Amino acid sequence: MNWNDCIERTHTHSVKWSTAPDEIIPMCIADMDFQVAPEIIEAMKKKAEHGIYGYTTFCQRYYRSIIGWWKKRFDMEIDQKWISFSPGIIPGINLLLELLTKPGDHVIVQEPVYYPFYSSIENQDCQIVRNLLVYNNGTYEMDFNDLEEKASHPKASVLILCSPHNPVGRLWTEAELSRVAEICLKHNVWIISDEMHGDLVYKGKRHHPLFCTHPNIKEKSVICAAPSKTFNVAGLQTSILMIPSEELRCRYETKLFQYGLMRPNAFGVEGTIAAYESSEYWLEELLLYLEDNLNYVMDYFQKNIPEIIPIQPEATHLVWLDCTQVGIQGEDLFRYFLKEAKIKFDPGYKFGKSGDLFLRMNIACPRERLEVAMKRIYEAVNKVK
Ligand SMILES: Cc1ncc(COP(=O)(O)O)c(C=O)c1O
Repeated sequence: MNWNDCIERTHTHSVKWSTAPDEIIPMCIADMDFQVAPEIIEAMKKKAEHGIYGYTTFCQRYYRSIIGWWKKRFDMEIDQKWISFSPGIIPGINLLLELLTKPGDHVIVQEPVYYPFYSSIENQDCQIVRNLLVYNNGTYEMDFNDLEEKASHPKASVLILCSPHNPVGRLWTEAELSRVAEICLKHNVWIISDEMHGDLVYKGKRHHPLFCTHPNIKEKSVICAAPSKTFNVAGLQTSILMIPSEELRCRYETKLFQYGLMRPNAFGVEGTIAAYESSEYWLEELLLYLEDNLNYVMDYFQKNIPEIIPIQPEATHLVWLDCTQVGIQGEDLFRYFLKEAKIKFDPGYKFGKSGDLFLRMNIACPRERLEVAMKRIYEAVNKVK
């Protein structure tokens, strides 16, 4: 793979690139500026050349590729019948909340967090309950006492867990997850565990699937996963929901049918198989490249832009930037860098009030582009002084 290739993405209907006018470097939206594994391209070509893109269904090989991946990467056994489908993680979360809540219920999130969760909760007329993460000494931790208090409320019905956590990059430990599971089980609160970044972990780190952290949690939780982030195939719109509870799974599948969402994209099954069966080596190379990019960025901020403190991520290709010392906040902070640096970040305030002084930066791009971006950030910060 040539990770240094700057592949043109403008005029390809890319969300990330089409929302960034000329000259702007988009460092927002969590997809990557890298070409996918050749095995996935081959599978797509074969499908394209077949020339018929009719209604599509799943096959044994598709299920086996998912089961094999989770066994190999996380040593987790999956029963095939748990595996259900969603065109994306967010549609899956929306449908699950429709099934697990009633209007007025409390749904807990750990702010700052991936902001579409908030709209998913509001869509159901539920109340967003914020179990704020504690920011201390450049890292984030869970506040378990507060979680317990919120979970014990009679209206608390679901916790949406982000594991690994977007945007703060924490890879929750087995002990932390087991405690979350314990609290939610005690108070009869479901956990929707969004694990879609679980493959993007840095050297020496390990993602712990929620099901492996507590013996009783499977029947009271759902894992959301996908090849989307791992293999840069979000546009194939093929996501996986693991629902061990038979009762919930049946209701979920009925919902999928009701909304006509039960069939995958014509390219999604082949893409998923090619990713999980044949592209692990690509992921290993990607992780090394991302680690180099991350080290470069962390070092650059420390040496040249001390006003911005990057939070060291343990996972994800996203870096959460503490811009407190820049002296601008909220939407103004986002707009300042858009105008002065011509960099489009994800605005921190969207992740919750506790993100007001932050920006989120996507480092999954060729080094050359990252170097231009860092220089522009440096110059923009110097202009504020
Ligand atoms: C934690 C998390 N969940 C869900 C999504 C969106 O997933 P999808 O596009 O499959 O709905 C993202 C995308 O960035 C994400 O970071």
